[in-house]
Amino acid sequence: MNHTQSTLSGTTKLLHIIIALGMITLLAVGIIMSEFEIFALYDLHKSFGAILFVLALARVLWRVKKGWPSAVGVMSKIQHAIAKAIHWILIIATVLYPLSGLMMSIGGGHGLAIFGLEIVAETVDAAGEAIPVNGFIGGLGHDIHGLIVYFVIAAIVLHVVGALKHHLIDKDETITRMFSLK
Ligand code: HEM
Ligand code: HEM
Repeated sequence: MNHTQSTLSGTTKLLHIIIALGMITLLAVGIIMSEFEIFALYDLHKSFGAILFVLALARVLWRVKKGWPSAVGVMSKIQHAIAKAIHWILIIATVLYPLSGLMMSIGGGHGLAIFGLEIVAETVDAAGEAIPVNGFIGGLGHDIHGLIVYFVIAAIVLHVVGALKHHLIDKDETITRMFSLK
């Protein structure tokens, strides 16, 4: 089932804004913390990332239940296909990013704590070094987390440019519908 053309549900709008801001912030923090080795940010990054995982799963369920919003503006077939492909890439990225982070952390033996609350205990040797629980899963998570970064950023940029085109050039309701408070 599709939403009506003129409105989107509060759930769609709320999940979109929270997850969009969360993804953009976590991408920026992730790049900065690993580039400059700011280890103090790791726990915060992981905690917010794990919460985003739960919200992203809820949003996927919402999409399965409700379908994708139907487009408001008049678009060529190719534009429509590109917009749809990018929505798929983005929604997959919102699950794959935190999932790969969890695989890296838990598989690597670093465990998981959300704002200090231990969910999965870390496994460390006498010297305090992490002992991987599953080195393959940990390594795979690490590779996915690092490899998809620029691809996901490019998809977000195209998505935002497309949304702005609707607003500034086509002058349709695409952006106002997604961000309206009504
Ligand atoms: C902050 C800048 C952003 C703007 C201005 C924006 C704008 C929009 C707009 C206007 C729509 C509705 C498109 C339509 O009517 O067909 C939309 C949908 C969507 N956006 Fe964004 N977006 C932004 C960031 C993001 C980010 C960072 C993500 C995920 C990484 C994302 C994921 C999605 C998805 C998956 C949809 C499809 C509808 C849904 O599942 O809610 N957006 N966005
Ligand atoms: C939406 C959620 C997330 C996003 C967008 C995200 C994004 C990123 C990015 C862009 C990096 C830098 C990667 C690089 O430049 O190689 C990074 C690093 C990292 N992330 Fe995430 N992350 C998310 C969730 C998580 C979660 C849930 C965990 C663990 C529970 C996690 C653990 C880490 C760790 C440990 C690093 C550092 C890796 C290293 O130093 O090699 N992330 N993250």
